Amino acid sequence: MLRGLVTSAPHVARYSLSLSVRAFGGYAGSDVMDLGAMRKSYRNDDEAFEESHLASLDPIAQFGAWFQEVLNCPVIAEPNAMCLATATRDGKPSARMVLLKGFGSDGFRFYTNQQSRKGKELETNPVASLLFFWEPLNRQVRIEGSVERLSDQESDDYFHSRPKSSQIGAAVSHQSQVIPDREYLRKKNAELEEKYKEKEVPRPVEWGGYIVRPSVIEFWQGQTNRLHDRIVFRRPTEGEAETSPWTHPGEGGWMYERLAP
Ligand SMILES: Cc1cc2nc3c(=O)[nH]c(=O)nc-3n(C[C@H](O)[C@H](O)[C@H](O)COP(=O)(O)O)c2cc1C
Repeated sequence: MLRGLVTSAPHVARYSLSLSVRAFGGYAGSDVMDLGAMRKSYRNDDEAFEESHLASLDPIAQFGAWFQEVLNCPVIAEPNAMCLATATRDGKPSARMVLLKGFGSDGFRFYTNQQSRKGKELETNPVASLLFFWEPLNRQVRIEGSVERLSDQESDDYFHSRPKSSQIGAAVSHQSQVIPDREYLRKKNAELEEKYKEKEVPRPVEWGGYIVRPSVIEFWQGQTNRLHDRIVFRRPTEGEAETSPWTHPGEGGWMYERLAP
C-alpha cells in the first residue's frame, strides 16, 4: 500500500549515510536514537552582522538582498522553499514546506489547494508564519503575518503559467484527503491527461494563492562563536509611542531591534 514511500527509500538512505555513519550506530527500531552530540560547527568568515551591514532598513528590501545571495549560491537547490506554519482556530499548529512564488512590499505569495489542511486552517485562522533556512549561508528568515487569498485573476494567471502536467496534477489531487491507493491517482491523472489533451486545463476552484502580509520579519545570521545575530523588524504595536533606546526606526513604517540569540 505504501509502495511509493518504500521505493524511494534507497535515495534517502544514500543521502543521509555520511551523517549517520559518522556519528551513530544507527537506529535499531525500539531504542531511542540520541542525537545530542550532533551539531554542526558553524563557519562564517564574515565579521559579526552589524546593523550597518543591513542592505536596507526596509525588511522587504533586506529580504531581497539576502534572497539574491541565495540565488547566487549554487548549492542551494530550492532557494524559494519555505516552511509554512498555520494553526487551527484553537491553536493546534501544523507546518509543511511550500514554495515562495513572489514577494514585494505587499507581502509573500504562495499557491496551494485552498481545501487542503492548511487551506482550512487559514480559512478559520488567517495568520501564518513562514521560515526560510539557507544552510550554506548560515541564515534563517522568519516571517509572521496575516493571510489573505489572492484574487481569482492572479491565481488564474499563475495556474496557467505552470507546465500542463502540473496543472493536471493540481486538478487530480484533492490535497490532504484520504485516497485508496496510488493507482487511484494514476488513473485520475491519465483520465485528465486524455480529457485535456487538446484543451486548456481550467483552474480547479479550490486551487489558488495566498499572500502573507508581514508584521514581523526576523533575520538570523549564524556566527562561529554561537553569538548569533538576530535583527527583528516589526510594525509598531497600536499606540506604541515610547520606544526603548534599543528600538530603532526602520523604513516604510517598520522599526527594528536586536534580540539575544
Ligand atoms: C520543497 C517542497 C515544496 C512544496 N511546495 C508546495 C507548494 O508550493 N504548494 C503546496 O500546496 N504544496 C507544496 N508542497 C507539499 C506540502 O509540503 C504539503 O505536503 C501539501 O501542501 C499538503 O499540506 P497540508 O495537508 O498541510 O495542507 C511542497 C513540499 C516540499 C517538500
